[in-house]
Amino acid sequence: MSTSQVTRALFNEVMVPNYNPQQMVPVRGQGSRVWDQDDNEYIDLTSGIAVTSLGHCHPALVRVLKEQADKVWHLSNVYTNEPALQLAQALTRATFADKVFFCNSGAEANEAAFKLARKYASDHFDEDKNEIISFVQSFHGRTLFTVTVGGQPKYCQGFKPVPGGVHHTPFNDLDALKQLVSDKTCAIVMEPVQGEGGIIPADPEFVRGVRELCDQFNALLIFDEVQTGMGRTGSLYAYMDTDVTPDILTSAKGLGGGFPVGAMLTTDKVAPSFSVGTHGTTYGGNPLACAVAGEVLNQVNRPEVLDGVQQKGALLVAELEAINARHNIFKDIRGKGLLIGAELVDEWAGKAGLFLAAAREQGLMILMAGPNVLRFAPSLIIPDEDIRAGLHKLELAIDQLVNAADAD
Ligand SMILES: Cc1ncc(COP(=O)(O)O)c(C=O)c1O
Repeated sequence: MSTSQVTRALFNEVMVPNYNPQQMVPVRGQGSRVWDQDDNEYIDLTSGIAVTSLGHCHPALVRVLKEQADKVWHLSNVYTNEPALQLAQALTRATFADKVFFCNSGAEANEAAFKLARKYASDHFDEDKNEIISFVQSFHGRTLFTVTVGGQPKYCQGFKPVPGGVHHTPFNDLDALKQLVSDKTCAIVMEPVQGEGGIIPADPEFVRGVRELCDQFNALLIFDEVQTGMGRTGSLYAYMDTDVTPDILTSAKGLGGGFPVGAMLTTDKVAPSFSVGTHGTTYGGNPLACAVAGEVLNQVNRPEVLDGVQQKGALLVAELEAINARHNIFKDIRGKGLLIGAELVDEWAGKAGLFLAAAREQGLMILMAGPNVLRFAPSLIIPDEDIRAGLHKLELAIDQLVNAADAD
């Protein structure tokens, strides 16, 4: 079948209907630009949901991937390999962590984190210390365990029975958390900025309070940095911009810059509970994935890139505010670094999907974070002119939607 015969319509014929992709099919990308089958150009303010952190086809990543492709692709965990060891060493040097476990996705990194927290509590306390506390509206993945820990019950509907021992409490509400935490708590898990839940940053006092409660009740603090990690918020990991250090941190998405890889980072104190044979995955530590992720880390963990994220995030927010001054379409613009949410005013609540489609027609790729929030997560090195040009297209899309609504 030639490429031209593959259309969006084929998706409905041959794919399980758990996604409903946009009507164009992208075929090529370069930096913050993407082209579809008809060679229409789009400005990409999505990075594939905060994944292609260095844009599309960054030359350094392409080079490393091609070099590794000529060396060795896969070995299994019966052997270790150089790219995995180099990446683990670089991650431990760059963060609080002493030890790393590799996997393939954010859900798998969180699955490992939750299992490790239970195993650690079982090793050091007793089997009853198995409860995991998480926050309303949080998102931690789609495996049965991670979807249960996530704070959006709709994602569990139809999949019951789900694993037990998981509790949810409102985000940024320390008093409510105090009512729930106990000696039975083995871990509290939080996103430093709730992503899928609507781009909601954690309050600094809340983060401090969660750490204190973990210490008081001998529970582990897990930071899910699958979306916030690898420079997205302007620090290598978002915890670095708080007063606290987690016991376990999960990373994926931007870690591979578009190549599937996940990692769970932890300390020398906690890691031994995953002794030989307790946990594993075939592809974890895959040399291709680790070689690419090593170069992503190398590129992102530079002051000029991380400072650039802050500066570009400020530009994006300023442009959104300018649009809002003219159209009064957002009731809140929030986020951190280049993870920005713009919440629609009540009149447009629930209609974020319409904005994605209208933006696409203008040649712009954006995201939603729930039905009320437009989400922007561009490449960390997006040129400023692409931010301005992208938001000009957004304004055209808003104009079009508002005019159509007025005409009704
Ligand atoms: C905070 C967070 N955790 C976990 C996940 C799950 O990652 P994956 O889709 O790679 O399994 C996501 C994905 O959106 C996420 O945003």
